[in-house]
Amino acid sequence: MNKEILERIESVKQKALDALKTSKTSKELNDVRNIFLSKKGEVSSLMLLMKEIPNELKKEFGQAVNNLKTTIETSLNSKLKEAELEELNEKLKSEEIDITLPGVNKKQGHINPFLLIQDEMVDIFMKMGYEVKEGRDVELDHYNFELMNIPKNHPSRDMQDSFYINENTLLRTHTSPAQAHAMEEKKGQPIRIICPGKCYRRDDDDMTHSHQFGQIEGLVVDKNINIGHLKATLELFVKKMFGEKREIRLRSSYFPFTEPSVEVDVTCAECGGKGCAMCKGTGYIEILGGGMVHPNVLKMNGYDPEVYSGFAFGIGIERVAMLRYGIDDIRRIYQNDMRFVKQFERK
Ligand code: DAH
Repeated sequence: MNKEILERIESVKQKALDALKTSKTSKELNDVRNIFLSKKGEVSSLMLLMKEIPNELKKEFGQAVNNLKTTIETSLNSKLKEAELEELNEKLKSEEIDITLPGVNKKQGHINPFLLIQDEMVDIFMKMGYEVKEGRDVELDHYNFELMNIPKNHPSRDMQDSFYINENTLLRTHTSPAQAHAMEEKKGQPIRIICPGKCYRRDDDDMTHSHQFGQIEGLVVDKNINIGHLKATLELFVKKMFGEKREIRLRSSYFPFTEPSVEVDVTCAECGGKGCAMCKGTGYIEILGGGMVHPNVLKMNGYDPEVYSGFAFGIGIERVAMLRYGIDDIRRIYQNDMRFVKQFERK
């Protein structure tokens, strides 16, 4: 082959080997690959000389260029492998975990006063022999209203607007539908249940109202149940929750699912019943609603009101928590400010 051509092949070879010698990192080596071995690289450019080579030497020339390509490739690949390994080791070394460094302190949570009070309330009723039922947050209109003696278009529906899933399904506005579920389940047998849980209403949030809140529903159905049983039960609850000195009074009220209906007040903790700013001079603070189960409710849910009677009550959990702990704004219970939440401990 002509000397000049041989020299050109040799010079590309030298340049490539020199470049490989001085390249250390995988990036540098990949640059070398680009310069010499890519489509438009130096080795491919040598092939362009083919047309100047006499036919009988074309084969030899082609082989020489191919050999050059293999030489560069082999040397480059082995250097690249080494470089990559070294770089990986460097990376692993730099990312090594220093187990002597101090750890990150995880902040511990704290039980919310809502749950503290709910647990206490449930505990008091369990000790009186009540069975605890779980209700459902998403409720059918049928249970939330109809079976509670609140037919469609009943004016008392206005006070309990809710969030609707569809026309017949809503987030329950009170825990009272638990009464209907219990009567359905017990099929005419005596009942003594409570049902704690969340309720929802389309209310504007303020210091004393929240669009979601907790209630505990209570229901007792048996033969010869009278309002004395309701009063004694609630009296016991109040004394356990607020202290032996507290008294209750029943005020006549109205609920569609009870007859007679009562609202229950407890003597004010601040003044003991004399009247002060806290109780607006009345000496009492309202804490819950209750009454004797309406004959329609018994009948609709499969209990004969001539044979059975019952009482029911609904207690607002936040209301009890606010009175017990002296919380001035219901919204604090949901805001999860740890400075607030940590002030309350289990008894
Ligand atoms: N469901 C009523 C409410 O949310 C509370 C209530 C009142 C429940 C009287 C009762 C009851 O079981 O007898 O306003």
